[in-house]
Amino acid sequence: MCSIIGYLGLNQAAPIIVKGLKRMEYRGYDSVGVATFSNNQILVRKGVGKVIEVNKSVRLDELSGTVGIGHTRWATHGMVTDTNAHPHPSSTGEVAIVHNGIIQNHEELKKDLQQKGYAFKSQTDSEVIANLLQYHYDKSRNIKQSIVDTVADLKGDYAFVAVFEDGTLAAARFHEPLIIGIGKQGYFISSDVLGFVEHTDEVIYLDNMEFVIIGNSGIQIFDFNANPVQHQITKVSKEFADVYKGEYAHFTLKEISEQPTTILNSGNNTKLELDLATDFIRHAKSLYITGSGTSYNAALVAKFLFSKYAKIKIEPIISSEAHFSPDIFEQQSILIALSQSGESADVLEAANIAKKAGSKIISIVNIMTSSLAHLSSISIGLGCGPEIGVAATKSFTAQLATLYKIVDKISEGSLGLDLVKVSEAIKKSLSDDSKAKIQEIAKKLKDVSDIYVLGRGIHYPIASESSLKLKELTYIHAEGLPGGELKHGPLALMDSNTYVIMINPEDSTYSDTLTSAREIKARGAKIIGISDKPSDVYDHWIEIPKIEEVMYPLVEIIPIQLLAYYAAIEKDTDPDYPRNLAKSVTVK
Ligand code: AGP
Ligand code: GLU
Repeated sequence: MCSIIGYLGLNQAAPIIVKGLKRMEYRGYDSVGVATFSNNQILVRKGVGKVIEVNKSVRLDELSGTVGIGHTRWATHGMVTDTNAHPHPSSTGEVAIVHNGIIQNHEELKKDLQQKGYAFKSQTDSEVIANLLQYHYDKSRNIKQSIVDTVADLKGDYAFVAVFEDGTLAAARFHEPLIIGIGKQGYFISSDVLGFVEHTDEVIYLDNMEFVIIGNSGIQIFDFNANPVQHQITKVSKEFADVYKGEYAHFTLKEISEQPTTILNSGNNTKLELDLATDFIRHAKSLYITGSGTSYNAALVAKFLFSKYAKIKIEPIISSEAHFSPDIFEQQSILIALSQSGESADVLEAANIAKKAGSKIISIVNIMTSSLAHLSSISIGLGCGPEIGVAATKSFTAQLATLYKIVDKISEGSLGLDLVKVSEAIKKSLSDDSKAKIQEIAKKLKDVSDIYVLGRGIHYPIASESSLKLKELTYIHAEGLPGGELKHGPLALMDSNTYVIMINPEDSTYSDTLTSAREIKARGAKIIGISDKPSDVYDHWIEIPKIEEVMYPLVEIIPIQLLAYYAAIEKDTDPDYPRNLAKSVTVK
């Protein structure tokens, strides 16, 4: 959920760490802290807030020393307070740690360590790692042994980085990502390449159940049984370095604006895998598709595409629900797992359940080095570049474009897919005129308490995705509904304080959706029509270009992403970092 980073090298550690944390802040961002090793002691500064704010008040970047660790937190255990912010020193201060994940047996461990005389200051589960390391280190005075003993005691999912009283860095990985960066001026260890990519593109991906010890004499990697492990150094793609907002006010706006290009790139770097996946799907005994949040909405679109155009049944499963119906998967079935990050714990769990049952996993992911990509039989890359804004935008349309490509191949072109045409249509929705109009409508949403988004058929998943974008970015209650369900309940909610967005392109759903719009209008609610055809029923009309029915989803989501973004600006919320959320949800 959060980001962790460690540095050991020739330069001052704190400024490098603070910069790295700023780049990774999208992963989790309620509090931040840094610890360095300087003059034979470990110094800690931390606090609640974003990296810039906390740095301004406590000057994290002025800590001295050339070895250090840092953290941005997304609280799971204990309130968002200065004390609960990481790093956490052990009670004697000889070790300090930063932790990503959850320690399930923290209560037992804490009790036990307290009885042994180790004191705790925070309410976090993470602090037990610091005291456990200290306890084992006190016994052996050997860093390697203390880590082997500590990981043997811990239950849960974690990656941690520790700094020891002699200036050694150590880090361990259990179901949470950790990547080592090898620079000319020092070593890095981080949850994300973004933490250090401006310093080096040479990396080692630590495998699950491995740990690393980094000292002035170099790095040593071991598995959890203390056996030395050799790893190849690989070069990360330079595209990772492209994480600047450039001319844009926010990453979210930048990422929305990149979509005319990103939909064209989807799957291009993994063409072979795409062909292979198509073949696998054709011969599957049964087919499932899973994802969380936005990725699940893409799965709903896939259901529609597969059944209508490829005549193949595919069952969408909300990843977090897979745990409760594990028997659903069977031998020789295929699970398509959708995930931008490839690190969502729920998606990984669904994939592992399916794998255990004898299913093959085809993943469609943006981060090709992720845990999901690793555990899949075939992995197709979204290729849309880093997505920093917490709200998924370009990764959603890249997921759709990839799924469209697969279905088009399976159905031998029955989709009539023309992504160049889609790209041109998206460009029109992103024109200055279109943006100015959407900005005006966004002003109206400022004080609205409820928004409903209606769509029928293939537009229903887009209605669902639209409501998710509005919730995340504006904090306004929003709900996506299949148009026909209106009269079965939600109509009771329509009054003059309500806004309803109708996704209503002129296709086979058009007249039914227009009828729903009239029923809503008669109850006094305000209507925003997303359509290629104007109507007197709309209080506000957002025009989208005309295109073939099947391709509308890729086009109609764009103005709604923009509407949610501009409404967030009107409401003065931070569109890149919505409250309480994190980009990559690596806990269950
Ligand atoms: C989307 O705007 C959300 N931030 C969230 O629902 C997200 O799609 C979900 O957490 C899944 O993430 P993933 O695609 O990285 O697995
Ligand atoms: N469980 C830890 C905490 O609540 C770490 C959470 C995180 O990954 O940010 O502090």
